[in-house]
Amino acid sequence: MTRYQTTSSSQRLTIKHLREVTSILTVAGSDVVKGLSQAKKTLPPRYFYSDRGSELFEQICELPEYYVTRTETAILQGCAAEIAEITGKCELVELGSGSSTKTRILLDAYSQLGLPLRYLPVDVSAGMLESSAKQLLNDYSMLEIYALAGTYELALQQLPPKQLPTRMIGFIGSTLGNLNPEECKIFFSQVTQALQVGEYFLLGVDLQKPKHILEAAYNDSQGVTSEFNLNMLEHLNRLYNGNFDGSQFEHLAFYNEIDNQIEMHLRSLKSQTVELQTLNLRVDFALGETIMTEISRKFDIETIKQQLKSHNLVMQQVWTDANNWFGLFLCQLQ
Ligand code: TRP
Repeated sequence: MTRYQTTSSSQRLTIKHLREVTSILTVAGSDVVKGLSQAKKTLPPRYFYSDRGSELFEQICELPEYYVTRTETAILQGCAAEIAEITGKCELVELGSGSSTKTRILLDAYSQLGLPLRYLPVDVSAGMLESSAKQLLNDYSMLEIYALAGTYELALQQLPPKQLPTRMIGFIGSTLGNLNPEECKIFFSQVTQALQVGEYFLLGVDLQKPKHILEAAYNDSQGVTSEFNLNMLEHLNRLYNGNFDGSQFEHLAFYNEIDNQIEMHLRSLKSQTVELQTLNLRVDFALGETIMTEISRKFDIETIKQQLKSHNLVMQQVWTDANNWFGLFLCQLQ
């Protein structure tokens, strides 16, 4: 497949825009057509992250019910120095970097040890990538940034040559939980392929816990998660000239205890037909029918350790909080 990309660069900042060129085989939006044409409708979670969606997600991270970000931040604060000592001079590739708020904890730890750092954030929201990169350059005078705007898959295939002795791929925020088991396997092999033996993978995942705590985290009282979920329809309207009416759908999130996952849906409040003109798609919804927009799987440490091992990613260190709500793992490719 041919790929085009544009690169813009100033002295300490390079932004590379990764694009998949559309052809008969890879039509933009074919994932939307596929998801909405199934008996059980789904939409790919990457459509959450319009610039507005990314902003809403930042708000979710600060909600009182959303313990995920706070818990992971506290763990990182406790172990960042240890991570920096283990890896030494290191390039940090971060998949789904968003505002890079948690990453600052790592950047601080490397700076304090006097280690140089090159940061390669990857995000589908180019706006978010650019604004957070500029902030970081302001705040860290020694930092060099090579940002990649695009999907994890493309970025992992197109990392630039290494300039420091080792590299660490960071995948925090339990984004792994947003991949189904099949996607998870593919993702681990992409990570393995992007790393050389001895290099690192830093993984943060949300752990299993009582249902009421989980359900509250995805049904906040201020309605931000609901707005985030519904924003996907706006984003699709803009991208594909659609006529989704957000007021005719509602947010639904519940914990599925069999598959150990939160499921997020958009439920149709009436029987309706929606059109996405650019995709030549008409979709009928029955009253109460749902589109699944996200899963957020909740893990146990032993299972994930085995899975990583089967991809030659060996856990070196495990850090958790006092409640065992969240796990941060440092792995090394063997
Ligand atoms: N990966 C995080 C999680 O699963 C973030 C996330 C993705 C999220 N989609 C979400 C959080 C929807 C709230 C709502 O928790």
